[in-house]
Amino acid sequence: MTRQEVDIAIDWAAAEGWNPGLYDANCFYVADPNGFLIGLLGDEPIATISVVKYGDSFGFLGFYIVKPEYRGKGYGIQIWNAGLAYLTGRTIGLDGVVDQQSNYRNAGFRLAYKNIRYRGTGGGYFSTESGIVQLSSLPFDEIDAYDKPFFPGDRMQFLKCWIDQPQSTALGILRNRTLAGYGVLRTCRSGCKIGPLFADSPELAERLFLALKAHAPEGAPIFLDTPAVNSAAVDLAKRHNMTLVFETARMYTGNNPDLPVNRLFGVTTFELG
Ligand SMILES: CC(C)(COP(=O)(O)OP(=O)(O)OC[C@H]1O[C@@H](n2cnc3c(N)ncnc32)[C@H](O)[C@@H]1OP(=O)(O)O)[C@@H](O)C(=O)NCCC(=O)NCCS
Repeated sequence: MTRQEVDIAIDWAAAEGWNPGLYDANCFYVADPNGFLIGLLGDEPIATISVVKYGDSFGFLGFYIVKPEYRGKGYGIQIWNAGLAYLTGRTIGLDGVVDQQSNYRNAGFRLAYKNIRYRGTGGGYFSTESGIVQLSSLPFDEIDAYDKPFFPGDRMQFLKCWIDQPQSTALGILRNRTLAGYGVLRTCRSGCKIGPLFADSPELAERLFLALKAHAPEGAPIFLDTPAVNSAAVDLAKRHNMTLVFETARMYTGNNPDLPVNRLFGVTTFELG
C-alpha cells in the first residue's frame, strides 16, 4: 500500500466497528512502510492486511479484511498467505476476533491470552500532585527504554510518532524522578482510546488512567483494551464503571513473548500490537 491506501484499510476497520484513531495511519505506516498489503481485483481494492516487521525477529498482523461483497470467494486466504510470506522466519502476533480463532489455530497460531475492550466515559478530575508529567518533557531515550520490555521487537520509529500525534495526550508518571509508567490518549472515530497504558503498579496505572481520562471531553466515550490475565487491569476498568465491548484473542506463532502483563494495563493497538 501507499500511505494513501492505508486510509482505505482504516476506513474498512471503522466499518467493522474497530473504531480507529483519527491519525493512526501516519504512525502505522512509519512503523514499516512495506508492511501494508492491498489486494486488487482489476483496479478495485478488495482486500487488506498489515504485516508489520519490528526488529529482526517479530512481526504483527492486523487489518485482515476483505470487502464485504467479496468474502467467501478465496480472496482473503490469498492476501493472508502473501502477508505470512512477508513475515517468514519471525514470531508473529495478532489480536484475532472470536470468529476467526479456529482459522488462526489451523494456521499455526496459539492463544496467549484474551484482550478485553472496555468502554467508559471521559472527563473528571485528577490530582495535580500525582507525579504526572507531559511525556514531551522527558528525553525520548528514557521513554523508549521504559517501553522496550513491553514489546517483543524494536518499535522506536512508531513510538516517536505515536506519542506526538495530533489531538492526543501523552503523559508519564514519575517515581523518584524516574519514569514509572506512561500512557497515551488519542482521538478516535468515536470518542478516545487509551493505549498504551503501562505502569509499575496498579496504583500508578490508576493515577495515569485518571489523568488521561480527564483530558478526554467530558461525557465522551473512552476505550481501554486490557489483557484479561492482568486482574488489576480488569479491576481498574470495572472500578471506573467501564463495560465490556468485545474480546480478542492475542495469539502468536512460535513461543509466546515474555511480556510483563502485570504491568500492562492497556494494549497500544489491536492492529499493530
Ligand atoms: C476474515 C476474512 C478476511 C476472510 O476473508 P474471505 O475472503 O472471506 O476468506 P476466504 O474466502 O479466502 O476463505 C477461504 C477459506 O480459507 C479459510 N481461511 C481464511 N482465512 C484464513 C486464515 N487466516 N487462516 C486459515 N484459514 C483461513 C476460510 O475459513 C475458508 O475455508 P473454507 O473454504 O473451508 O470455508 C473476511 O471474512 C473478513 O473481512 N471478515 C471481517 C473482518 C474480520 O473479522 N477480519 C478478521 C480480523 S481478526
